[in-house]
Amino acid sequence: MIEPVNIADLEHLASERLEPGPHGYFAGGAGDERTLRRNVEAYEDWELWPRVLVDVSELDTGIDLMGGRMELPVLVAPVAFQKLVHPEGELAMARAAEAAGTVMCLSTIATCGPTEVASGCGGGRRWMQLYCFRDRAITRALLDEAVDSGFEAILLTVDAPYAGKRERDLRTGFEVPAEMTAPAVKKASGGRDLTIQEVFGLVDPSLAWEDLAELAEASELPILLKGIVRADDAELAVEHGAAGVVVSNHGGRQLDNAPATIDALPEVADAVGGRAPVLVDGGIRRGTDIAVALALGADAVLAGRPCLWGLAADGQAGAERALGILRDELRLALALLGCASPAAVTRSHVSRRAPGPSVR
Ligand code: FNR
Ligand code: LAC
Repeated sequence: MIEPVNIADLEHLASERLEPGPHGYFAGGAGDERTLRRNVEAYEDWELWPRVLVDVSELDTGIDLMGGRMELPVLVAPVAFQKLVHPEGELAMARAAEAAGTVMCLSTIATCGPTEVASGCGGGRRWMQLYCFRDRAITRALLDEAVDSGFEAILLTVDAPYAGKRERDLRTGFEVPAEMTAPAVKKASGGRDLTIQEVFGLVDPSLAWEDLAELAEASELPILLKGIVRADDAELAVEHGAAGVVVSNHGGRQLDNAPATIDALPEVADAVGGRAPVLVDGGIRRGTDIAVALALGADAVLAGRPCLWGLAADGQAGAERALGILRDELRLALALLGCASPAAVTRSHVSRRAPGPSVR
């Protein structure tokens, strides 16, 4: 294997390993994939403005988030069906997150359940992503399992009442084989081969703000909302007791033409105003992207496809490689930006690139 030096190299390796059906599912977005592309491209429009002659001889990429330390401000985003890219699936991903000293977010439709992941890897930190099934008993059981297995927080995904129109899947006829199905999905569906539309058919599209208070009350764990891009929804989230928000458009897989998440982050961060952590995901491929997100008000970021490409390329070692690349690139970005830690990055370190000469 050629030694991957960046996330794009890992993506290339993964694309050589995956069959067209799964590859299209993991790589693809909705509609014309405008939002999928914008998530990545929008980072080009944010310039980093370094300070000089700052002592950066001692660098620390770590942060404190939701009551615990992370060695880098990058969580592993919840991504479904990971055994489709590697036989050890989410277990290998969780071990990679633990080795990197960060948080693994486990999808509701993971191919390894919460108990299996928790017992298969030691003391790593884990959050559970939640889709509310129409069958609330299945949701309840999943939440109980997450609590019993030591998961620390719930990421309630709110941008996917239905699946986006994913045309790559329509073209390849991609279906999730019954033997790869997530334990929770199997319970809800009876264990057949499923299209992604059928998987989402199990999710309750009636979920609304009123349900949040009820969920928050029933859950022993803090609930963060994942999939917010607007200030008014961020305000509602905090009012309804969310413990944090994730600015996300689901990696461009849901509403096409939604804004790039990095462009939506400033208004959400302003609306939340420090009352709760703000995270962002979508399109993060470089340490400099993480620095831009920190400057625009994110406490941390999540990486979806970068970790997934690592897992596909080389299992746990590949996922560790992805996180290691992001950590090393961030460390260098911080040093060259004149910031000894993520906490030192401020809005003054970034500005939007305007046509013509840079303006601030
Ligand atoms: C996802 N994402 C996702 N989100 C979620 O809340 N539950 C899930 O089960 C999944 N599943 C999933 C599958 C695949 C194949 C992808 C690519 C993404 C979205 C994910 O958590 C995250 O928001 C995006 O992946 C972030 O964008 P990047 O980092 O992939 O650009
Ligand atoms: C997806 C899911 C499962 O984006 O969230 O495919």
